Amino acid sequence: MIRIAIDGPSGAGKSSLAKGLAAKLGINYLDTGALYRTVGYAAREAGIGPDDRGAVVKMLENTEIRAAFEDGVQMMYLNGRPLGDAIRENDISAYASAVSAIPEVRAFLLETQRDIARRESVVMDGRDIGSCVLKDAICKIYLTASVECRALRRMAELQEKGVDTSLEIIKADISDRDYRDMHRDVSPLVQAEDAVYLDSSDMGIEEVTDKIISIFNEKAGK
Ligand code: DC
Repeated sequence: MIRIAIDGPSGAGKSSLAKGLAAKLGINYLDTGALYRTVGYAAREAGIGPDDRGAVVKMLENTEIRAAFEDGVQMMYLNGRPLGDAIRENDISAYASAVSAIPEVRAFLLETQRDIARRESVVMDGRDIGSCVLKDAICKIYLTASVECRALRRMAELQEKGVDTSLEIIKADISDRDYRDMHRDVSPLVQAEDAVYLDSSDMGIEEVTDKIISIFNEKAGK
């Protein structure tokens, strides 16, 4: 069973990288941020403020979240209903970041994540995969990039979608999310002791992928 954990702040390029890596290794990619986004989506749909811990926790009693791989693509289901790209909205990013700081939400999603890794080989990306969810992953990477560089990448993505925004707003958003993810009480974003630190600011995706494959081969004794 192969388990690769890729953690790091938002916009560091974790998901494209993890996706490509999983495809090269012929295994699935689990985007754990999508699970938190699904909880955030459920809260918004229920009209619950993302910081209303009591209401979010109560909501979990009647919430079933499932990740399924369909042709290698991860689909999120909320109470049996597929959500598609709706969880990618900007508004949902803020909800996801807020609900992910609630200990009961993290506990709720922990088993879902571990269960998938028990059943199959995976590359997982998130914030606490190496430090908490898959402490025994064979290969752990902490992937980051400068705020400037992450903001420029995000800006290019948004422009491609026709969304008009400013670099300053994106930078402020990224810094806010970094702060929240790194300073929450439970499972904050940290580099696991045995994770390899990679700064992708001046690296292309191919270069980062090759680097991780060589780290993986080394760790796996290949
Ligand atoms: O990676 P992302 O932007 O889709 O994640 C959405 C939010 O979920 C992000 O603000 C941090 C949180 N998250 C987390 O706390 N732990 C994870 N393993 C993955 C995401």
